[in-house]
Amino acid sequence: MLKAKPFVKWAGGKRSIVDKLVKLAPDEYKTYYEPFVGGGALLYELQPKKAVINDYNAELMNVYECIKDENKFANMCAELNKHEANHSEEYYYKIRDLDRNKKNFNKLADYKRAARTIYLNKACFNGLYRVNSKNEFNVPSGKKVKVNTYDGPNLGIIHCLLNFYDIKLLSIDFEKSVKNAKKGDFIYFDPPYDSDTSTFNSYTENGFGKEEQKRLSDVFKELDKRGCYVMLSNYNTKLVKELYKGYNFNYVTAQRNIGASAKNRGTVEEVIITNYKNKEGFEE
Ligand SMILES: C[S@@+](CC[C@H](N)C(=O)[O-])C[C@H]1O[C@@H](n2cnc3c(N)ncnc32)[C@H](O)[C@@H]1O
Repeated sequence: MLKAKPFVKWAGGKRSIVDKLVKLAPDEYKTYYEPFVGGGALLYELQPKKAVINDYNAELMNVYECIKDENKFANMCAELNKHEANHSEEYYYKIRDLDRNKKNFNKLADYKRAARTIYLNKACFNGLYRVNSKNEFNVPSGKKVKVNTYDGPNLGIIHCLLNFYDIKLLSIDFEKSVKNAKKGDFIYFDPPYDSDTSTFNSYTENGFGKEEQKRLSDVFKELDKRGCYVMLSNYNTKLVKELYKGYNFNYVTAQRNIGASAKNRGTVEEVIITNYKNKEGFEE
């Protein structure tokens, strides 16, 4: 099957380091789990025959659900065509602010909500996804004159992948999503980044702080004991070094474009940690 690209620009998206992740993935495994799937860069590269993909962001997972379902998929694309044709500054804010009226927003058809999510992602400032404590999308407009919301053939590949293979879609907490993982399964964790200084962690209304990083490392260790292959990416912070001491550290330098001012964009040290020996000669 042809390889797809993420349908959203996602903070922490792994497209730029996906080749390294593929090299570090085990050659063989049973079920693939991706508890923080985001834009899904690694999923599209690996094309696992059996997988459980999850993200706490329900609006994002609703897009995956709509791409999977034939009717919703067609309706979503038609809605995206409408958004492209109507796009303006004023229109952006009209669509963005639909979630201010919870009662009406909850009544919107799934495909309309999915099209809104993609449209906002493409038309907002720098592809950010940020919600406030009331779960309202609050990113300003990217002030683009024209917005291209989707690449039809690319979404077609994702539709095929989600239907031809056994891929379960969930939108729950990461810990619950790996509850059934067994020996021989492969789990790739790509959590919101830890930081020694500032934190960008508002993909969901709940955030992801130091306590969450610690809870994640407990889950990593529990899966290690079960005999799963576990891989995790994060920044190489003090806390990350401490939490995963004794596991294999592979260092990569990634270009970061989202969630930073122009001055702070640039290279940061990112680390890919595995509980198994690497077939590739990465620096440890
Ligand atoms: C770094 S991003 C993942 C990027 C993704 N690998 C990609 O290539 O686009 C982290 C993701 O974790 C999700 N998330 C945050 N807290 C979560 C939780 N408690 N359980 C599951 N997902 C969570 C966010 O919605 C976000 O999509």
